[in-house]
Amino acid sequence: MGQDEKPMRDSDYDSMLGRMSAVSSSASRPGRASARQHMTSFENHPLYRQMLAQRNFGSKVRFPDPHYRLHDGAAGATTIIDGVERLNFASYDYLGLNRHPLILDAADRATRTFGSSVSASRISAGERRVHGDLEAALAGLYEADAAIAFVSGHAGVLSTLATLMGPKDLIIFDALSHNCIVMGAKLCGAARRSFPHNDLDAVESILEDERDRFERVMIVTEGLFSMDGDCPDLARLIDIKRRHAAVLMVDDAHGLGVLGATGRGVFEQQGVRPSDVDLWVGTLSKALVSCGGYVAASHVIVDLLKHHAPGFVYSVGLPAGVAVAATTAIEIMRREPERVALVQARSRAFFELARSRGLDVGTSGGLGIIPVMVGDPVRTVALTQRLFERNINAFPVLPPGVPDGSARVRFFISAAHAPEQIDQAISVLVEELAAVQSISLDHLLNSHGTV
Ligand SMILES: Cc1ncc(COP(=O)(O)O)c(C=O)c1O
Repeated sequence: MGQDEKPMRDSDYDSMLGRMSAVSSSASRPGRASARQHMTSFENHPLYRQMLAQRNFGSKVRFPDPHYRLHDGAAGATTIIDGVERLNFASYDYLGLNRHPLILDAADRATRTFGSSVSASRISAGERRVHGDLEAALAGLYEADAAIAFVSGHAGVLSTLATLMGPKDLIIFDALSHNCIVMGAKLCGAARRSFPHNDLDAVESILEDERDRFERVMIVTEGLFSMDGDCPDLARLIDIKRRHAAVLMVDDAHGLGVLGATGRGVFEQQGVRPSDVDLWVGTLSKALVSCGGYVAASHVIVDLLKHHAPGFVYSVGLPAGVAVAATTAIEIMRREPERVALVQARSRAFFELARSRGLDVGTSGGLGIIPVMVGDPVRTVALTQRLFERNINAFPVLPPGVPDGSARVRFFISAAHAPEQIDQAISVLVEELAAVQSISLDHLLNSHGTV
């Protein structure tokens, strides 16, 4: 679409659809070709049209687009964007390991030994010992029989659900689950039921009503929820899954490194045996400062995945440097539990200060992820922009990513954040939130930057 052309409105689109069905019985009617042409163009894809509408809105109200900001170096407690050093609360380097010399050296050595790529799928082109080392370390975290490492956490979950679950099965998942769970459940063809966030009575009642209609039933939840920073009651979930002959998969992408005395995650925090959960899934990209995903589970499940998971069998193995970075991060985390204590202390400091200054932190448990609830999406974007102008980088989370009326700015806390950085962030946040709340929406939309 040229810059001067207007994006199509929904009514235009609907009437185009209507016209298409009206002409479908008559190939010779004029207009059919142009309707086809219209539908074939990705410029008319509903998602693209929605994206353009959002951009038009953003430019009308003069909020710069907060997506894809360019960092000039590693993002840690601070980061450089547009040549300016800013406090950073938008990355997940929970343990402050992202430039740790041992990790950089180990990754460098592995890259020099094995090259920058393993160049093919492990099943066909063979293993490097770094893969086995990483998987042993991951299995060790969860006291699991075995683990498998994927090139992405998202792809790992999709592939796992696609391998283990199918049309005769049921997946029951928390309504606030990460996209990889929602999409994985959708794409694998199993029946799906979502339950209200952390409402385990609802899980019971779905199972009571529906268990017998399906072969396998899997309950899927997160260990530390990425939007809200809260946790499910794991012991109760284990009890429920046992009584209803279901399996339980927990995505602890954010819990690893953050929860429990030694950072092993939600099971350690809640005093639950990790082997009582059938599948632990997660990512290498957050506390483990690398890239990739994993499943830790029984020999049978891992064996199945290693021979059938599409995102493993038909995808390249992790580059050696990437695998070694994650393994070294696990070693450091296990050797230095004081890093875990630090991220927990800094999180609590942020959480307590935020609450004492009257900020609404939703249902967050105050570890790692702390949302500051704003409610209205326009005020949320305005707040994020004002924070950015005061050199604080945090990201807005808006519907449909979260329920309507619950737009928020999300803060990820790292062991690397200094107490004074947290104090500064909260002071600025309190001032700017009060400012955006005191201004009418109309004024905010029409005069951002001048109020
Ligand atoms: C809960 C959760 N699961 C899975 C993922 C995907 O992990 P990856 O970044 O490795 O694809 C994320 C990433 O943000 C996440 O928050």
